[in-house]
Amino acid sequence: MSVLWFGGDHNPEQWPEEVRAEDTGLMRRAGVNLVTVGVFSWSLLEPREGEFDFGWLDRELDRLADAGVGVALATPTASPPPWFGAAHPDAMPVTAEGVRLTHGSRDTYDVTAPAYQAACERIVRALAERYSAHPALRLWHVHNEYGTWSHSAHADRAFRGWLRKRHGDLEALNEAWTTAFWGQHYSDWEHVRTPRATQYLANPAHVLDFRRFLSDAMLDHYLAQRTILKSADPAVPVTTNLAFGDWVPVDAWKWAEHMDLVAVDDYPSAPGAEAAAQTAFAADLARSYAARVPAKGRPWLLTEQAAGVLYTPGRTVSKAPGELVRHSLSHVARGSRGAMFFQWRASRGGAEQWYSGMVPHAGPDSRIFREVCELGALLPRVAGAADARVPVDAAVTWDPESWWAMGAASLPDADLDYLGAVRQVHRVLWRSGRTVDFVRPDRPLPPVPLLVVPSLYLVSDTAAAHLADYVERGGTLVATPLSGIADPHGTVRTGGHPGALRDLLGVRVEELRPAPDTELSDTDLGTVRGWTEAVRLTGAEPVAVHRSGDLAGQPVLTRNRRGSGTAWYLSARLDDAALGALLAGLGARATAADLRAGPATPSAPEAGVEVVRREDGALTWIFVLNHTGAPYPVAPASLGLAPGAVDLLTDTAAEGLTVPGGGVAVLHGRLSP
Ligand code: GLA
Repeated sequence: MSVLWFGGDHNPEQWPEEVRAEDTGLMRRAGVNLVTVGVFSWSLLEPREGEFDFGWLDRELDRLADAGVGVALATPTASPPPWFGAAHPDAMPVTAEGVRLTHGSRDTYDVTAPAYQAACERIVRALAERYSAHPALRLWHVHNEYGTWSHSAHADRAFRGWLRKRHGDLEALNEAWTTAFWGQHYSDWEHVRTPRATQYLANPAHVLDFRRFLSDAMLDHYLAQRTILKSADPAVPVTTNLAFGDWVPVDAWKWAEHMDLVAVDDYPSAPGAEAAAQTAFAADLARSYAARVPAKGRPWLLTEQAAGVLYTPGRTVSKAPGELVRHSLSHVARGSRGAMFFQWRASRGGAEQWYSGMVPHAGPDSRIFREVCELGALLPRVAGAADARVPVDAAVTWDPESWWAMGAASLPDADLDYLGAVRQVHRVLWRSGRTVDFVRPDRPLPPVPLLVVPSLYLVSDTAAAHLADYVERGGTLVATPLSGIADPHGTVRTGGHPGALRDLLGVRVEELRPAPDTELSDTDLGTVRGWTEAVRLTGAEPVAVHRSGDLAGQPVLTRNRRGSGTAWYLSARLDDAALGALLAGLGARATAADLRAGPATPSAPEAGVEVVRREDGALTWIFVLNHTGAPYPVAPASLGLAPGAVDLLTDTAAEGLTVPGGGVAVLHGRLSP
C-alpha cells in the first residue's frame, strides 16, 4: 500500500539529549514517518575545512531508524560555515549595489564561485558515502530553497558564458537586448556584466536574461550534487524544496525534469478563505510541475508549511484551529505524497525562534500538537488515494519568464501584476469548483475543455503554434490583456497587439489604455477598472461591449472560431465576480447576458466548501474540506458516487453525512456508472 509522508524539518543539533530522546517518542505518537534532517548543519558536520564530525548525525539517524521514522537527508549547502566565508571571501555573494555580504544569517553563498562549488561537492560526497545505505534514508533533500543572487566577478564571468551560449555573438546579444536604445551597444564581451544598481530604469532584456541565467546557474549547482548522490546509490530519490516568491529565480518547469519528485514549500500570505485559495494554487502548481518529472504519476510532496504562526519580517499569518488539517488535506487531495511542516519542534533561540513548530514552545500538551496527532491519524486512512489521478476541468498558463518580464519597472502600468492575474483566474475557477492544471505552452497542450491564458506577456512562435493547435483541435481558449505582446526577448511584436496571438484571436489591438486605480467603463460584463484596450475586429465577433467611456460601443470581449474550437479575447480588467461569471458561462452560443449572470446557484466551493476528486479506474476519493463555520450536508449521488460510499475519516456511510463547520471528509467508493 502506498505511503503518505508525514513529518517536518527536524533539528536535533539545537537540542540536548533528553529532548532528542523525547522527540522520537512524540514522533511515534503523532504518526510521523519522515523527517528532514541536517538542512543547516554544515558548520557542525565540517567544523574546520576538510575535517568532518558525523558522530551526532550517526546517532540521530540510528535512533530514527530504530523508531521507524524515515529521513529526508539534506545536504547543508544553503548555510556555509563561518570558516568558509573567512577562507573564501570571494565566494560570498555581492548585492546589486556592490555590497559583499558576510556570514551572519543563512543563504550567504554564490553558486558561481569555484571555492563554494568545491566545498559543496566535498561535503555532499562525504554525506553520500556515509549515509546512502543507511536504513533510515528515504530521500535526498538537496540544499534549501535556492534563491541567493550574486553580482560578483564570478557571476559576471558565468553570466557571459551563459550569454554566449544563448546568443552566439555579441551582435546578436545587442539585437536581442535592443541596446541601440539609450546608447547601450556593447563592443566587447568583457563589458557585459550582471545588472547592478544603475541610474534609472534598467534594460528589461538584460534583467530578464539575468534571471534566466540565475535559474540555470542554480540548476547546475543542484545537478552537481544530484550526480554525486546518484553515483552513491541511484535508487535513492533526489529532490530540492522549491520556494515561491518573486525573489526566487528558479524556473520550476525546467528543474522538475531533474527531480525524482517535486518538493514545494507553501506559506500562504493571508489568512482565512484567501489562505485556502492560495493553498489550492500552490498544490495545483506543484502537481503541474510534477508532470515533467521523468517518473510516472506526477510525484510531488509538500515539504514545508507552518503548523501555527508564520512569522517573517513584514508578514505574520496564523493558522486558525482546523486549518492545519484542512490545508494539509487540500495538498493531499491535489496530489501531494504527504504533508510535511517547517518544523518539527519550534526553536528556542536563533533567528526563527518565533516560528511555529509541530511541537510548539508550550510542548505536546497543546492544541497544535493535538491537531498534529489528529492529522497523523487521518493520513493513513486516505493513503489508498496516493497513486490516484487528479482529474481536472481546465488549464491555466503559468510562465515564470513572463512573471519575471512583467516585473520590469519599464512597463506601461506600475500595477501590472502577472502573478496576481494568474492567481485571480485560479481563484475564480477554484471558487466555482473547478480543479485546474497549470501548463506552459512550450510543449503541446492537453485537450482540456477550457484553457485560460492570463497576461501571457512573452510568447514564442512555438508557444503561439501550440495555443493555436489546442483551439483547432476543439479547445476553448480565453486570453486576457497583455498576452502575446512580446517575443522571448521582451521585444514588442509590432503591427498591433496581442502580437503572437492576433491571428488566433481574430483581433487587432491598436492601443493599450492603462489607467491605474481608475474606473474606466461599464460593460456588458461588469465594471472595468485599471486597464482596457481599443480593439479592432479582424475575424472575431464581438460578444460584449463597453457601455460607457471613450470606448462606448466597442468590443470588450470577442469570440473567434478556429478549426473545431473557439478563442476568446477579454481586453479589460474585471473583478472576481465578473471574471468568474464570464468563465462559468462560456459557450459556443453564449451571449453577453449569459456571461454576466454566471451560474444560477453557487457551487459548493463558492459557499466555502472545497471539493476535490481523485480517481483510479471506477474508484474515487472525494475530499470535502469545509472552510466555513456551518455544517455541510453531503449529497453523494450529486457528487457522482454510487450507493455504498463511505467517509474514510470517520468510517461512516457517505449517505446522510454532514461535514461539521471547519471539518473534512474523504468519501470513497465507486463512481456511478
Ligand atoms: C522556509 C525555509 C525554512 C524556514 C521557513 C520559515 O521555507 O526553508 O528553513 O525558514 O521558510 O520561514
